[in-house]
Amino acid sequence: MSSPLRVLTGITTSGTPHLGNYVGAVRPTVRASRLGHVESFMFLADYHALIKTGDPARVQRSTLEIAATWIACGLDPAKVTFYRQSDIPEITELTWLLTCLTGKGLLNRAHAYKAMLDRNAAAGAEPDEGVTAGLFMYPVLMAADILLFNAQQVPVGRDQIQHIEMARDIAASFNHQYGEHFVLPEAAIEESVATLPGLDGRKMSKSYDNTIPLFVPREQLRKLILGIVTDSKAPGEPKDTEGSALFQIYQAFASAEESAAFAQAYADGIAWGDAKQRLFERIDAEIAPMRATYEELMAHPERVEELLQAGAIKARAVATPFAARLRHAVGLRPLQAAVETKAKADKAALPSFKQYREKDGQFYFKLADAKGRLLLQSLGYASPKECGAAIAQLKAQGWSASAALHAMAAVAEDASAAEADAALQVLRDAA
Ligand code: TRP
Repeated sequence: MSSPLRVLTGITTSGTPHLGNYVGAVRPTVRASRLGHVESFMFLADYHALIKTGDPARVQRSTLEIAATWIACGLDPAKVTFYRQSDIPEITELTWLLTCLTGKGLLNRAHAYKAMLDRNAAAGAEPDEGVTAGLFMYPVLMAADILLFNAQQVPVGRDQIQHIEMARDIAASFNHQYGEHFVLPEAAIEESVATLPGLDGRKMSKSYDNTIPLFVPREQLRKLILGIVTDSKAPGEPKDTEGSALFQIYQAFASAEESAAFAQAYADGIAWGDAKQRLFERIDAEIAPMRATYEELMAHPERVEELLQAGAIKARAVATPFAARLRHAVGLRPLQAAVETKAKADKAALPSFKQYREKDGQFYFKLADAKGRLLLQSLGYASPKECGAAIAQLKAQGWSASAALHAMAAVAEDASAAEADAALQVLRDAA
């Protein structure tokens, strides 16, 4: 059996999960993580959160909420490596290694950064007004998240595709410079998952302030759903499912049959109040059991912390040895090893002469290539001094240059004069 596909994704811990996150990310990812042949890494991207917010309480709160959400929604920490980014110091370490070979021009082209520049230009402000180096470096941190675990697939939203492409570029640069260490990751975009409309009918998003939080108490969920915009058709009037946010949200939770029945109710002129009640009941049926787990976990943050600590141990079992290998690859190495490595490399790289004495009492030398293969074998000399003189002449002139040189040493059986000359040339160049 081939090794499982390694899949990794991160969630920035700067907000409270809403129904859109659940339908678009949590639910499909949890389902995928339960399939057999994948090895899932899921993490809470709290370093990324610091780029978005300077509010420590919010980062902490969001980290707890998101962790509790994923577990309540069925993520199995025994099956999935579930961890918090800031528990893995190797990520920031790798970020620096990658920073040093990431082109600034590559980062200049990042959509999020360019959008800031455009906004500033439109407002007549300085181009980099309000742009932190963190925002600028965001793609490098994200590349480190992915590459440290050699993830093959990264499930993300469309807005993140460019970041995955950048991670690929950065990985390729590293591999080119230091050898093949990284897998080139690919974005996995779930085509079938629709984006959920929010209260106002636009895409449900925190930036539109139109979200329905996933785990509000039941009564609050009902109130929020009552606030979804509809048209002003009266009870008894047939209603359009087309363009109805209410209907789209219903579909995201219901089976095909349930949706068909709901569409029929629209055609039959269901009152909006009744339609909203039906939507509420349908969503609550799916969410209520998970809400109970969520509330339990929120009341016991120490349990969540414990799970994350266990996840960090699992993640670091991969990250720590790999980071050590990467440190070594770039030359961050123990110094004593440097001398050995250099001596070894020097020796290995050059052909060499060896002098020795045979049982007949005479002195001999031989020339071997960098790999130790015999090229020249001398005849016997009366003294080491004569031996040395012959070597010096060969080194200076090569072997082919004269008959006198041929007499000093013979070309070995499975070597050629050209090879001997080439090796002697290498030694001359090195000297
Ligand atoms: N940038 C991602 C987002 O905003 C979150 C994220 C951070 C991430 N690091 C990642 C996603 C690594 C996938 C892989 O959605």
